[in-house]
Amino acid sequence: MSTPSQTTRSAELYERAQRVLPGGVSRNTVLRDPYPVYADHGVGCRITDIEGVTRLDFSNNMASLIHGHACPAIVEAVTAQLARGSAFTTATEMEVRYAEHLVGRNQNFEMLRFVNSGTEALMVALKAARAYTGRPKIAKVEGAYHGGYDYAEVSQAPNPDTWGEVDRPNSVALAHGTPGSALDDVVIIPFNDPERAISILDRNANELACVLLDLMPHRVGLKPADTEFVAAIREWVTKNGALLVLDEVITFRTEYGGLQTRYDITPDLTAIGKMIGGGFPVGAVVGRSEVMEVLNPRAKQVLFPHSGTFSANPISMTAGLIAMELFDEPAVARLNALADRAMSSIQAAITEMGVPICVSGGGSMLRVHMKPRPPRNFREAYLTAEENSRLKALLEHMFDEGFILINTCSATLSTPMTEAEIDELVAAFKRGFEKMPVSV
Ligand SMILES: Cc1ncc(COP(=O)(O)O)c(C=O)c1O
Repeated sequence: MSTPSQTTRSAELYERAQRVLPGGVSRNTVLRDPYPVYADHGVGCRITDIEGVTRLDFSNNMASLIHGHACPAIVEAVTAQLARGSAFTTATEMEVRYAEHLVGRNQNFEMLRFVNSGTEALMVALKAARAYTGRPKIAKVEGAYHGGYDYAEVSQAPNPDTWGEVDRPNSVALAHGTPGSALDDVVIIPFNDPERAISILDRNANELACVLLDLMPHRVGLKPADTEFVAAIREWVTKNGALLVLDEVITFRTEYGGLQTRYDITPDLTAIGKMIGGGFPVGAVVGRSEVMEVLNPRAKQVLFPHSGTFSANPISMTAGLIAMELFDEPAVARLNALADRAMSSIQAAITEMGVPICVSGGGSMLRVHMKPRPPRNFREAYLTAEENSRLKALLEHMFDEGFILINTCSATLSTPMTEAEIDELVAAFKRGFEKMPVSV
């Protein structure tokens, strides 16, 4: 990594940005002190900023760039498509080809509807569940992130003052002014606690359209859900006439057909996004034909009319299809093996240094926790002030060493990475652990 002699361009840009963008940013994720990194270009698994500093990118635009930056096959195909038009008020062959590919990746995917983001995919999935069941409520896991739809974001970030009793978690608004009616229609369950979750669901049985589940929720600890928990939820929804909606916006990358293929379950609907756009905005709702039928505009009674100006635009479709064709079963397995190597080496460094830290993850993602054991739910994952300050120090250290991580200290891999980049990451973590207290 080269070191910047000065960072005046970024400081100056941020000065200007604050006059026209609230807080100087267009997404809160990119905020950094004293100012954000301004990317100049990215190639493979590296980003060079406008100061000329090149860093290894383990964030990959929040787990969305499975092939890293400027993947040559995607650049070539998108450039050709751009010259032929980027969006039409007509259907295209590309959306049919891409839908066929995605449906072919998992037997639970019978039909799909393309949208433009993970947030929109979740919104459409939840509305489809309501349309299918005729019921108003949804249930979701405390602390799980599912994007910005009013209902999906309830209890995304509660704290010990607001989250309430563990047997009856509160439905906590994220945005000020969220309608009370939205809160009333969201039931919060604890992760990996089948007994408590089922008893909460039972209290709302006749009103629940679906249970929404991320099988490895990032903010809840990035640890795969227990098989018994997932099985209990599936059994409950079947018994009570509700649907199981999975959020695989991130976890789809963990297996060729998504993380759900590691469980003995059939979801009714699944929301996917991020990497399936090949670097461009996208989302999709996939699932059982009988449920997807609510979106059918040719039905006698259209239960859920839905449109979107940029849905299935040929740029996202072209980039997505190539990205997913390249992310075939051997590519998935290779990336997962690299992540396993990273996790076991980081764990070995933690043990050697004797620091109260641990690592969790699955597929091609991992998260380093400032806790001695991986948290099992959001309340355990919640950071104390002391843990937060250690986390910040470690993230600063990694940034100074030339690594871009997700700000929970999570890393996602991309296919241009090799063992060399993984070993660099581990060595940098080890130097970071050396600076940390062995007991707290
Ligand atoms: C699990 C999960 N669901 C949904 C979303 C929302 O996706 P998007 O940012 O594309 O709207 C995200 C984004 O980080 C996510 O991680």
